[in-house]
Amino acid sequence: MNEKVRLAVFVSGGGSNLQSIMDNCSAGNIDAEVVLVLSNKKKAYGLVRASEAGIDTVVYKRKKFSNGNEADEFLLNLLDEYRIDIIVLAGYLKMIAPPVIDKYRGRIVNIHPGTLPKYGGKGMFGSRVHKAVIEAGEKETAVTIHYVDEIYDHGQIMAERKIPVLPDDTPDELAARVLKVEHELYPEVIKFLVEKYRKES
Ligand code: GAR
Repeated sequence: MNEKVRLAVFVSGGGSNLQSIMDNCSAGNIDAEVVLVLSNKKKAYGLVRASEAGIDTVVYKRKKFSNGNEADEFLLNLLDEYRIDIIVLAGYLKMIAPPVIDKYRGRIVNIHPGTLPKYGGKGMFGSRVHKAVIEAGEKETAVTIHYVDEIYDHGQIMAERKIPVLPDDTPDELAARVLKVEHELYPEVIKFLVEKYRKES
């Protein structure tokens, strides 16, 4: 396979993880390219980052379709059209529909800014995770990267890196320390997945 592995990155917010993935692809650390960035929010700054890098973007809102099947079909067709090999969820806060998970099983990954399963599940995302960790008096938190399956924050864990929680941390301070680790760990895991995919296909 001479062509680069083709990544779709799904975002809902700032897209700092997207940026680190794009940067690592451009630097040749990951032998892949981001060819599509999808967001459920049209104002997500991640879409701006993608456009600035010349990457196609799509706003995908399931509510805009007349039913779930149509929404699934649109997404599956889009991923086919872009010949996507691997889907990377980078701060994407919506569930992925079962037909998409099924088609890309073992090729969809998610990053979570806390320990799983303890600080995961529906409603546990972004600053809510950091707030809960601080309120529980935890001494440590983690960045967790996992395969995506049909249950929210549940798929097999691929990597976990512990991060200390400091006595006076605010959720924002903790988030900043965690994000820094995310920007290192996610590219490493994606590199691993890209190489695995190359060997197997
Ligand atoms: C990241 O901290 C990511 O782990 C988290 O959203 C943030 C997105 O930041 N994801 C979740 O909470 C998923 N449950 P970014 O848009 O700057 O990459």
